[in-house]
Amino acid sequence: MTAERDHSAKASRPRSGAWFAAEARAGMIYRSWLRAEGFTPEVFDGRPVIGIANSWSELTPCNVHLRAVADAVKRGVWQAGGFPLEFPTMSLGESLMRPTAMLFRNLMAMEVEELVRANPLDGVVLLSGCDKTTPAMLMAAASVDLPAIMVTGGPMLNGKYRGADVGSGTHVWRFEQELVAGRMSQEECVAAESGMARSCGHCMTMGTASTMACMAEALGMQLPGSAAWPAADSRRYVTAQSAGQRIVELVREDLRPSRIMTRQAFENAIRVNAAIGGSTNAVIHLLAIAGRLGVPLSLDDFDELARPVPTLVNLMPSGRFLMEDFCYAGGLPVVMRELTDFLHNEHVGVTGKTLAETVAGAECWNRDVIASLDDPVQPAGSGTAVLRGNLCPNGAVVKQSAASPHLLKHRGQALVFDSIEDYHQVAGRDDLPVEASTILVVRGAGPKGYPGMPEIGNFVLPRKLLERGVTDMVRISDARMSGTGFGTVVLHVAPESAAGGPLAFVRSGDWIQLDVPARTLTLEVNERELARRRAGWAPPPCSSSRGYARLYSEHVLQADQGADLDFLVGASGADVPRHNH
Ligand code: FES
Repeated sequence: MTAERDHSAKASRPRSGAWFAAEARAGMIYRSWLRAEGFTPEVFDGRPVIGIANSWSELTPCNVHLRAVADAVKRGVWQAGGFPLEFPTMSLGESLMRPTAMLFRNLMAMEVEELVRANPLDGVVLLSGCDKTTPAMLMAAASVDLPAIMVTGGPMLNGKYRGADVGSGTHVWRFEQELVAGRMSQEECVAAESGMARSCGHCMTMGTASTMACMAEALGMQLPGSAAWPAADSRRYVTAQSAGQRIVELVREDLRPSRIMTRQAFENAIRVNAAIGGSTNAVIHLLAIAGRLGVPLSLDDFDELARPVPTLVNLMPSGRFLMEDFCYAGGLPVVMRELTDFLHNEHVGVTGKTLAETVAGAECWNRDVIASLDDPVQPAGSGTAVLRGNLCPNGAVVKQSAASPHLLKHRGQALVFDSIEDYHQVAGRDDLPVEASTILVVRGAGPKGYPGMPEIGNFVLPRKLLERGVTDMVRISDARMSGTGFGTVVLHVAPESAAGGPLAFVRSGDWIQLDVPARTLTLEVNERELARRRAGWAPPPCSSSRGYARLYSEHVLQADQGADLDFLVGASGADVPRHNH
């Protein structure tokens, strides 16, 4: 792990010179094959070679426009005197991949890391969009530590149905509840879905993709304002071209991710996440990225740093608006300017300027969408809370801004399910022994247990309660929740049940006390009884016998450590120890 790195000397020649600069066979062998693509010889004159890591895929609708974005990046790289080379990476389509895209985040991070290191690149532009593609690329960039800049693909245009805005994900959960309760027909659902995804781009709620785009900007890894430009807006391509220009300068300045993604940057990002009402998934991803850099960051940092910060951004799932509105209101620079008193304003990101300089001119054009500190959307302390207690010794999280205030202090009896499939089998039954005060517990959905820690934590309520008009209940799991989801859901319980955490020992009928203001989650079962249950417990067999899923299950860390693979924590650097020519 490399917490401190030597940046005292600028690279005397580009890294790519080790491939292209040599005369005779040693250089010819690299240059000649690349000239098969029709480049003139000047591209090998020592100019920075810029990789464009593209997660474009027709299996990832959120990223399907990234080839056009890459063209804009290339324009900028050529303009600034660099040599751009686009290459495909693995892509993770959140909506399609099974068992869950999160299972593959670390695989994509590993793949991008290896590709960047193995090739003759001096810097890299990271093109991402859908939820996991952004953290995977940041993790890779952190480990290789070559100059890097991110360009996220931007959100879809606002969804529309019957004259009203509908948010991706958020309205899927709402419409599902209406359908189960018999207040909406299947035909109406089909009509609604056709207006939900009106353009290319990622989910346009403040879900995980929008959150991670904002986190990339708050960390200083993408240009100011980049997170919010809609995918269909011409300014998305302007910002991509600017990023292409800037990466060439970043190589010349030798400004690397390890100098940008510092402890100060993570503190800024955590506070920004509180102000935007961002996804709980940001907790896991930021922990994983910090782990690659050797930046000390703990789960408790998220609670402590976020507590004094009010929610300023009024976006679904916590609020009313969508990313298009956020963009037109001024986007993240407005939020970061508003948070001046909470942020490290001297922090320098990919712009090469301080944060204070970067956001100095930011103006808010709609206070309904981005509130001021004096009149916030929700008061300080309404962001993601970190819970502790005998049910979650290593922590759990709950997104207060998306929860029901009356349930934030709640005592109820547990109804326990060993898997989400077990729950779904009975959720529609009239004889399910459940009341609105019941606490629903689903286990077996953590990183090892599922495997991959799926987004099922905000599972739909039992049908008979939905029919009675119940809209929220306390739900507890070792799973994650979609960033577009909502409800009083306790997530990321660690250790997970498959790793022998106390969640494995809860039984239906046990009393559980949730006290979010006190940050506690308590299973009201005494230690002796818990020890007795633990003695009779055996870990479930590994769910995968081969391949990547087995590697993942054997090496994945718990949620409070970012769910990275244990052998990927830390940096690797850009050096290639051997070559074959
Ligand atoms: Fe890709 Fe939501 S499914 S961002």
